[in-house]
Amino acid sequence: MSEHHHNKAPRGLWSSRIGFIMSAAGSAVGLGNIWKFPYITGMHGGGAFVIFYLFSIVLVGLPIMVAEMVIGRHARKDPVGAFRRLRGGIWTGVGWLGVAAGFVILSYYCVVAGWAVDYLWLSIKGTFSGAHAQEVPEIFGNLLNNDLAQLFWQAVFMGLTVWIVLGGVSNGLERANKVMMPVLFLILIFLAGYGLSLPGGAKALNFLFAPEWGKLDASGMLESLGHSFFTLSLGMGAMLTYGSYAEEETSIPGVAVTVAIMDTTVALLAGVAIFAIAFSYGMEPAAGPGLVFKTLPIVFSQMPGGTLVAILFFVLLVFAALTSSISLLEVVVAYYCDEKKWSRKKATLVMGGIIFLIGVPSALSNHLLADFHIIGDRNFLDSVDLLATNYMLPLGGLLIAIFTGWVLTTRLARAEIEKGEVRFHLYPLWHFLIRYVSPILVAIVFLYKIGLF
Ligand code: TRP
Repeated sequence: MSEHHHNKAPRGLWSSRIGFIMSAAGSAVGLGNIWKFPYITGMHGGGAFVIFYLFSIVLVGLPIMVAEMVIGRHARKDPVGAFRRLRGGIWTGVGWLGVAAGFVILSYYCVVAGWAVDYLWLSIKGTFSGAHAQEVPEIFGNLLNNDLAQLFWQAVFMGLTVWIVLGGVSNGLERANKVMMPVLFLILIFLAGYGLSLPGGAKALNFLFAPEWGKLDASGMLESLGHSFFTLSLGMGAMLTYGSYAEEETSIPGVAVTVAIMDTTVALLAGVAIFAIAFSYGMEPAAGPGLVFKTLPIVFSQMPGGTLVAILFFVLLVFAALTSSISLLEVVVAYYCDEKKWSRKKATLVMGGIIFLIGVPSALSNHLLADFHIIGDRNFLDSVDLLATNYMLPLGGLLIAIFTGWVLTTRLARAEIEKGEVRFHLYPLWHFLIRYVSPILVAIVFLYKIGLF
């Protein structure tokens, strides 16, 4: 019997391999895929960026995802407990960094996801259908200027997140992911198919998949490497925590490859759907962050059946955000359950409440606190986003790669992976990637993000 069974309250376990896959894919698939990937692809010129992105996933994302899951399953602990158990000393700090990143990211993730819930509500009410093209972007401006509305939707979204996490690993997280992920895929396949049937479909495919290498510059490559990281939920122990609930019979490399394929598929399908719809109505691909909340709703207001398409799209966005937010809260909850011996109920309610409060300045950052700048001329929300995605995650990922490749050792990691009836055929390749390629590439991204070149 392994050590973790000695705890008074037993830790959770995924009830099935497919439940683990759906949950890890749910964490990975989020606003990063449906909101951010299409707009950064648009800004970096399309095809060549997409091909480089695929390389980034394989060279940086996949090896680190395997590493995180191995650390988690080997230690059977939250991130802080895992690093403490496996090495301790300053390495415990990597766990602290991860739990802190969980607080920070979830605090503003709930605000942005709250916008998506509001847009779902507006779609259901039929607000977009027949609205004038100039009015639609103003709807977004009005929301950002409405402090109370944002707090309300932020609270609604946090409430949903807390409600799922309260249910525990197999009855809460796994069950919710097993429902939401298939629905998400169905909606996305429908929307991509619908997009391809529109006049802009062929143009969208061409834009996304025909590389024009001249359009890809160094900043695009670095952006792509950095995003491969965020989109796979790496660098803060989310995959570590999910890995800590995995059975020994489950092949970690198998799960990681499946999750990476699913995450990439969702990003590409979202790109197809969004660009096909946008091109068909003469919109520009380089609209930036407003693509989903300003540009697309204009199209919804003009297309036949736009209300239904809008509802489907925002259900998709809310589900994607929710399956990610529960993984962020789970990291924090796991820490308070494993290390502080709190009950899941107490940890979830108290920490959900505290993270909601930390998110309040983000919700108010466009109106009441608009003049309150933290980093440069960025408002509160943009500052915490920058802090987490540009500093905490790449640093965490770099340290996780170094820890696994050089401290824990890949030999021990292999033994952990092969504990069950699992063979790790690609071990030599992974060994090389996790020791040399991933840390060097992540280090370059990190130095770039902190502005060193
Ligand atoms: N991967 C999610 C997305 O693409 C975001 C996310 C969820 C995340 N959990 C995370 C990012 C942990 C980094 C770390 O939107």
